[in-house]
Amino acid sequence: MTDSKLVSSLIEDNLPNFSNTFVPTRLLLGPGPSNANPEVLKALSLNPIGHLDEAYLELMSDVQKLLRYSWQCNNRVTLPMSGTGSAAMEASIANFIEEGEKILIAKKGYFGDRLIDMASRYKANVNVIEKNWGEAFSLEEIEFEIEKIKPSIFAIVHAETSTGVLQPLEGIGEICRKNNCLFLVDAVTSLGAVELFIDKWQIDLAYSCSQKGLSCPPGLSPFTMNERAEEKLKNRKSKVPNWYLDLSLLNKYWGSDRVYHHTAPVNMNYAIREGLRILAKEGLRNIWDRHLVNSQKLYKGLTELGLEMHVAEQFRLPTLTTVKIPSDVDGDAFRNHLLKNHGIEIGNGLGTLSGKIWRIGLMGYNSSSENVDKLLNLFDTELKKFTIFQSATF
Ligand SMILES: Cc1ncc(COP(=O)(O)O)c(C=O)c1O
Repeated sequence: MTDSKLVSSLIEDNLPNFSNTFVPTRLLLGPGPSNANPEVLKALSLNPIGHLDEAYLELMSDVQKLLRYSWQCNNRVTLPMSGTGSAAMEASIANFIEEGEKILIAKKGYFGDRLIDMASRYKANVNVIEKNWGEAFSLEEIEFEIEKIKPSIFAIVHAETSTGVLQPLEGIGEICRKNNCLFLVDAVTSLGAVELFIDKWQIDLAYSCSQKGLSCPPGLSPFTMNERAEEKLKNRKSKVPNWYLDLSLLNKYWGSDRVYHHTAPVNMNYAIREGLRILAKEGLRNIWDRHLVNSQKLYKGLTELGLEMHVAEQFRLPTLTTVKIPSDVDGDAFRNHLLKNHGIEIGNGLGTLSGKIWRIGLMGYNSSSENVDKLLNLFDTELKKFTIFQSATF
């Protein structure tokens, strides 16, 4: 069938209205995206205006001020990049690495590997320290490697979504300054949900996403950098090898010049402004506490049902809980059942943890006591139906 015949047959078949039929109702309790706040969706559905319209420029300033609050920083260069978390991740590598420069990446899960891949594509001299998937680095281990390798950037994932580990960050910034190296943090699963202080912890550059703690759809990646990072960027010998993510160009639009770089995803910026406004209204401390309390309620409930957590209590990530799949349970079948019959998404393990753990997200709008109750009830009533019975052998 040619394209035009296909299209006319679709129309004859009364191709249904997209919004009413295509998107099933889902409660997203996986590793992300999380459900967007309904107020954010209202903002998203407004008509676009020009990305150089005065009203839009004002909205950009609001977004930047609100982002500085959520990052807990005063950084001049603080902006939402167009693209998902990986866009700002790539910008953090592309702008701050020159060919042959040393980067040290602390890898303890899947997203550490992504940083390694990106850094090697930009021809960095990549050095890696590793931990088992489910563990965190100690300050001493990090200090030892930074002093030994003397990298110009040290990169680490704050909230490792593949393992459910929250990496303590306090003290690393000081070590980096002592060793004349920039401190880069992946805060994709922590911004707006877990304690994070960019200025106080001396983090030089960091990036995140819109679809987790900020309760927006995916599509933007908040980024921030301080004066140390600005200085490094200014002193580059070579051009940033990625035009779209070149921070000096981007900052001509987001900085005071407001010079066109690319057409901004206007509606996504409406959305993030609303997500950040709601965040500021609740207050970061309340938000951090809410995520902590709900995750603790989840651990307690799951443990009472006889399940085991993958990560030691002190390193558990409030936004993402990893639970061991019991050896006599068909983990995929249970997960599919929750999605198909109850409209709830939870995640499978990534990489080496695939089939070994479930990943349960309580992020942003979805971190609520009601959602924990809903999920625990289903674990209680449904999980036993997915036990793999061993036939007895005599
Ligand atoms: C820790 C971490 N870093 C980076 C990313 C990449 O972000 P995105 O998928 O939004 O591009 C993710 C995605 O979930 C993540 O969890």
